[in-house]
Amino acid sequence: MSKQFYISDLQTGDNLTEFFMAKALSLKTGGNGKLYLDVTLGDSTGEINGKKWDVSEAESAEFSRIADGDLIKVRGQVTEWNGIKQLRIGKLRKYDPQTDQLDDMNDYIKAAPEAPEAMYQYILAKAISIGDEELKSMAVKFLRDNKQKLMYYPAAMRNHHAELAGLLYHIKRMLMMGEKACDVYTFLKKDWVVCGVILHDMEKLNELESNELGVSPGYSFEGKMLGHIAQGVKAVEKMADELGVSEEKKIMLEHMILSHHYEPEFGSPLKPLFPEAELLHYLDMTDAKLFDFEDALASVKPGEFSERVRTLDGRMLYKPTFSEK
Ligand SMILES: [Fe+2]
Ligand SMILES: [Fe+2]
Repeated sequence: MSKQFYISDLQTGDNLTEFFMAKALSLKTGGNGKLYLDVTLGDSTGEINGKKWDVSEAESAEFSRIADGDLIKVRGQVTEWNGIKQLRIGKLRKYDPQTDQLDDMNDYIKAAPEAPEAMYQYILAKAISIGDEELKSMAVKFLRDNKQKLMYYPAAMRNHHAELAGLLYHIKRMLMMGEKACDVYTFLKKDWVVCGVILHDMEKLNELESNELGVSPGYSFEGKMLGHIAQGVKAVEKMADELGVSEEKKIMLEHMILSHHYEPEFGSPLKPLFPEAELLHYLDMTDAKLFDFEDALASVKPGEFSERVRTLDGRMLYKPTFSEK
């Protein structure tokens, strides 16, 4: 069976029966004391929140067997709540590989637009091109030791780059942008930009949990307790000691990780104290924000505004009527 309804094309009022990937599924108790199901439905084009009201005991037992990343068949209607589309689910059941035949599983998986292996090789080549032997050894070791996880890991649970190989895509585009910035601001030390970009989110691999479809069910224990910034500082310290990296460079790399979120309320206790660390923050922000713009506008018709984008302060983004650049 081929897919009929893609999330980015859904319109308020649509009635549909379709398969989606279930993410962040949970049973909750409503104000009326009745159980309801809250689930994020995903496919290759995006995500939509789904609600099934008045869940019975039998249904709740069945729904609790659905895991993040499972495919489910949903019958429902697209409604709108607070300017955001939602699916009011009438019926839902788990995909059955015996009886349900789906043409192309890739239709149901949100993935970065480039092949993981190609992105990995691009990034590895940049790491190998680092002139400073100590920085090069750090970047190359991280990539080689973590290749398997990098192939599918998302960069976030929801927000930006929450997709198959999203972390690689994030690193790759930051590297591309960072190299251009070094062409403009010629006083920057490119080796530091390249190495900082490759390592900045390295511990997302241990902060988040993820299945091999790039769907993250949540944070690990260490991720909850420390977060990828503190975890990253520890990991850089350990790796640098193993590789015999000099004290000054080790601490500067740790500082890049420590300061890349810039503000204490976003997890950085210090602001960047050298220019490559400052640039790293802006590369990170730019890539995350522009990803969210691109993603949100993908499903908007020309001349119209998007739904409120939570990660962009609830802004409703505009898509012009013309497509010329
Ligand atoms: Fe980060
Ligand atoms: Fe990042």
